[in-house]
Amino acid sequence: MKMAKIDTVVVIGLGVMGKNLALNILDKKFRVIGYDVNQTKRNEISHSQYNSIKELEDLKSYNQNPVAVFLMLPADKISDDYISTVFALLHPESVVIDGGNSHFKDSIRRVQTFAERNYQYLGVGISGGAEGALKGPSMMIGGHKTSYEKLAHIFNEIGASFEEKSCARYVGASGAGHFVKMIHNGIEYAIMQSIAEIYTVLKTSGSFIPLEISEVFQSWQDSHLDSYLLRISAEIIAHKEQNEQGFTLDLIKDQAKHKGTGKWVSQFAFDLGVPINGINAALESRFLSSDKALRSKIDGIYNSEKQILQSNNESRQSLIQWSKELLELNYILSFAQGISLIQKGSIDFNLNVQLTEVLAAWMNGCIIECKFISALLEIYKKQPALEHLLLEDSIAKNVKQLQYNSRKLVALAISNHIPLNVSANNISYFDYLKTLHSSANLIQAQRDFFGQHGFERIDKDGIFHF
Ligand code: 6PG
Repeated sequence: MKMAKIDTVVVIGLGVMGKNLALNILDKKFRVIGYDVNQTKRNEISHSQYNSIKELEDLKSYNQNPVAVFLMLPADKISDDYISTVFALLHPESVVIDGGNSHFKDSIRRVQTFAERNYQYLGVGISGGAEGALKGPSMMIGGHKTSYEKLAHIFNEIGASFEEKSCARYVGASGAGHFVKMIHNGIEYAIMQSIAEIYTVLKTSGSFIPLEISEVFQSWQDSHLDSYLLRISAEIIAHKEQNEQGFTLDLIKDQAKHKGTGKWVSQFAFDLGVPINGINAALESRFLSSDKALRSKIDGIYNSEKQILQSNNESRQSLIQWSKELLELNYILSFAQGISLIQKGSIDFNLNVQLTEVLAAWMNGCIIECKFISALLEIYKKQPALEHLLLEDSIAKNVKQLQYNSRKLVALAISNHIPLNVSANNISYFDYLKTLHSSANLIQAQRDFFGQHGFERIDKDGIFHF
């Protein structure tokens, strides 16, 4: 007998993300059962299709039919035992979805462990912040396809869409959803930092007031750079608090925090030996920013004579153009690094990630959403096995053009004491990849010289020593 489509969704964890997701689901005409340990949060939603439960055990009273359960809890609050408890309270055909920022290795293990017990579990990376959860997030879904198919009608309704295509996508096997979301966050860090670097150059040049920088950023929205992060940056830069003269940004501490998913990307890339220089530099920029006391001591010694970029009207236009090109180059190289990590990780962990599905999920609703992704989608539709983005013709043509002014801007920034960690690292990443004869022969020689590790030669096979 064919079972009726699941029409009831349980949301466990009604913090900002959980609450907004519940409201989104209600808006799409599904019934929602909400649970949170906090009574106020449980009762915050008022809707004819909404019921809250006081205790997790009360889920039992809904076990006549299968339901979809979204766990919207911080990763450290989700344990295998907790999930087992939830499953035991449900109809056996129910599907539990981890919608938090869990580590993908936990996701792989859980999909497999629970499948052995005939439970259906999906690990779903959800992006788009609080607003995305409410209006339609990007969803990267991983697990057994049959479990996904049971809930596809719900995912398609509640996820964001782009040109009427859903951005809630089944991206691959067990763990693939959280894996892709993790790398999404690495790209997110790199693009955020790239925009911050361009902002700093323009601000330090002395030729732009914040409102002008905001306008410059806005004007780039009609190019390939059209993106969520650039849009919000333009808004943030121009923001003033009520009755305040100055800009809000100037009142915000220059010390960036992080919750850890960006760090997982770097740790993972190190384990796999995949270079992601720009993404790593974005994480390290946050580390560098955090010790303000040390920075101010060092600034006192080395940076007392601050140099400001000098610019006349002509160079003002150049600065805008160079900045735009550098930002475009950073977008390309950030995605290139993230994609190469997805490709390698997918093979090593048997995740069977469908890159075109990932890109389709990123088209709208997520933090790294940008126009450039449509170009990427076309590229990977035509060449799914493309080894590296820099090898593709249209990208190569573009990068060849963008590199000149990008280099000029990075050089200018370095000579003016402005740290452009992501931009400089991205250019080095590109330069290294296009270097036919690298300095690694000397590294090999040094290793052998002091450690007798051996070196290989270009003129004959075998292992040799000094
Ligand atoms: C998203 C964001 C989000 C992110 C948090 C914390 O896609 O909606 O990536 O999930 O994890 O905003 O980010 P930090 O690591 O910067 O704390």
